[in-house]
Amino acid sequence: MDAEQQIEEIRNFSYKKMVTDHTGHNFDHIKRVVKMATKLQKEEKTDKIITIGAAYLHDVADDKLVSDPPKLESEIREFLHGIKLNAEQIEEIMYITHNLSFSKSLSKNPPKLSLAGQVVQDSDRLDAIGAIGITRAIYYGGVNSETIYDPTIKPREKMNKAQYRNLDNETIINHFYEKLLKLTSMMNTTTAKKIALHRQQFMYEFLNEFKSEWISEK
Ligand code: ADP
Ligand code: NI
Repeated sequence: MDAEQQIEEIRNFSYKKMVTDHTGHNFDHIKRVVKMATKLQKEEKTDKIITIGAAYLHDVADDKLVSDPPKLESEIREFLHGIKLNAEQIEEIMYITHNLSFSKSLSKNPPKLSLAGQVVQDSDRLDAIGAIGITRAIYYGGVNSETIYDPTIKPREKMNKAQYRNLDNETIINHFYEKLLKLTSMMNTTTAKKIALHRQQFMYEFLNEFKSEWISEK
């Protein structure tokens, strides 16, 4: 099996796993991340099967989406072994998918990612900002019964990993300050940073408009 066929198999596996998701992680999210990763992979000249493979698989074992992530991780490993990736390739893909999340980068010793990992991380993060990012945050907030906005609840802008994972009282608008507006300065590659700056500008405009339309407190 050549690399193109392996990527096709990974695509089909990811599709089967993600197609039913209703948290904003569905296969459309995956396709956008893969598209961006393909562009960045060419520019950064990272390994194709590692970069595109990890982009397809990055949310399959996400602990927000599945009840037993280690079980999913072994399933992915077995699958990759079955399509004849070697042990080193499998470990690198698993390391990237396990370590790219925003919450992991809030830990005391954030995991170091290879350039391929950084490309996938940038691609995932770009999909969390801009017009699509705004829509996903609102969608996620709706699915999780978050309040839209409450000016009396201040955003917690400095949080460690545990605090971020245990947010009670989260509002959709606070999520912008607690995560989305931080992503631009966290981008790894120059191209991603440039795209992020534009998307960030749009989010600021959105937040300004939103607040100007909100109920006056008088
Ligand atoms: P990703 O798959 O992009 O790494 P997450 O799994 O953290 O992102 O979340 C999926 C989408 O929902 C992202 O766009 C994210 O910013 C948004 N999101 C995550 N947590 C919240 C929240 N508490 N409130 C609103 N949106 C959220
Ligand atoms: Ni994702």
